[in-house]
Amino acid sequence: MWSKCLKSCTIRFSRPILDLGNDTVQLSTKSNWEIPGEPQGPNVKTVVPGPNSQKLLQELNKFQQAGSTQIFINYDKSIGNYLVDVDDNTFLDVYTQISTMPLGYNHPELLNAFSNEHDLKCLINRPALGVYPGEDWPKRLSNIVNSVAPKGLAHINTMMCGACANENAFKHAFMSYRRKIRGNDEFTEEEIQSCLHNKPPGSPNLAIMSFLHGFHGRSLGTLSTTRSKYIQKIDIPAFDWPMAKFPQYLYPLEENQRFNDEEDDRCLAGVEELFEKWQKKGTPVAGLIVEPIQSEGGDNHASPEFFKKLHEICKNNNAAFIIDEVQTGGGPTGKFWCHEYFNLETPPDIVTFSKKLQLGGFFFSENMIVNQPFRTFNTWMGDPGKVILLEKIIEIISRDNVLENVRQTGEYILQHLQVMEQQFAPLIHSTRGRGNFIAVTAATSEKRDEIIEKLKRKGIICGGAYTHTIRLRPTLLFGRKHSDIFLSKFHEVLKEI
Ligand SMILES: Cc1ncc(COP(=O)(O)O)c(C=O)c1O
Repeated sequence: MWSKCLKSCTIRFSRPILDLGNDTVQLSTKSNWEIPGEPQGPNVKTVVPGPNSQKLLQELNKFQQAGSTQIFINYDKSIGNYLVDVDDNTFLDVYTQISTMPLGYNHPELLNAFSNEHDLKCLINRPALGVYPGEDWPKRLSNIVNSVAPKGLAHINTMMCGACANENAFKHAFMSYRRKIRGNDEFTEEEIQSCLHNKPPGSPNLAIMSFLHGFHGRSLGTLSTTRSKYIQKIDIPAFDWPMAKFPQYLYPLEENQRFNDEEDDRCLAGVEELFEKWQKKGTPVAGLIVEPIQSEGGDNHASPEFFKKLHEICKNNNAAFIIDEVQTGGGPTGKFWCHEYFNLETPPDIVTFSKKLQLGGFFFSENMIVNQPFRTFNTWMGDPGKVILLEKIIEIISRDNVLENVRQTGEYILQHLQVMEQQFAPLIHSTRGRGNFIAVTAATSEKRDEIIEKLKRKGIICGGAYTHTIRLRPTLLFGRKHSDIFLSKFHEVLKEI
């Protein structure tokens, strides 16, 4: 058994990979969630994709570019941490729909979320929330703010998706920047006329700074800040906005402290230079967007010190500090918001979210409030149906101490992957993570793809990111039992390769 094999391995726990502050967790055997109806393990009966998936792929391709589609899913049969496909293959899902399923498939309490008639009616009568919200909308938003808003950010706008959240966060940064310069919200006639022609002063030259390998969405504005893969950007016009370098750490951290500290300093100096350069060009930077862990870019981490200093630089330049928690928000790092690990001295200006929180949106501080209506607006502005699910999810996370499970299980997986990293060097390296938001890097991108493919054939769905990264994005209820299955299959695959 895998757990027995571990006892005979030398486990190098020395100290936590990243500074977990007061929340350093001890390995324990407590995390063993029983999810009613979950299978005992994966079971792959056909080639993947199987014949039924292949047939459906052909059909879909007639109407839609389906090159990204892997398999078709039976969402009636999928349960907990297991995804069942239309060929009746059962997979342990360690990727969860690109990190969007906090409590897994068909969680019994979520299945009942619309059993009361009022909530069902909220779901089917989807309002234009900016104009005709239901009577309980203020209460629902205040529940969300009171339970999970990042410290110091008491305002919220709900949106549709991650890109939509970031896009509107940028607009808030711009509007608040202009208000500071102007001293008020009274627009001049020249501003009013010129914005209709996309010309200054109404459409001012302002920029958002982002980082190499960052990902913030594919809508036109956010795409100018997304810097991960060319295929997402090519042929699309982009704003002339600055791109800074994000730290690229060497692992293990404790052996590379000096290099990594210098890497922080190099990148921060680059950020300062860019602020200056764009100011001189006449396009001041009104906001900076950063992921707490660059996710699509390959799970790149940076130290709390890096983020603290970055925040200071933004303050010194009057730029909004926007933290994109679209992928990290909602608990996968072991805290509800990953930036809690950074202990920032004052709150960021905006924190954006989506994925595990079911709908998009952003929390923001007082200075980012927009005073006039229709400036942050779209038809739906979110979805009360999704907020009903979110309320339930938050209740379960808090009631069942789910984040403790994430921390314990994550630590367990990390420590075992570190052992494998040594055993199979140089096939994988740079094991890193917070909570169960974990990644390793493969020696080459071909090996990375081979590992993910072989895992799939053994019934494990795992994600790739950027060129060499294998990333884990399990549910928050992924426990010890699931971890053992994943680790043993991963071990088998590395051995085969
Ligand atoms: C950090 C981050 N920001 C923004 C987005 C865009 O979200 P969406 O795909 O919902 O537009 C993503 C999507 O993966 C993301 O990971």
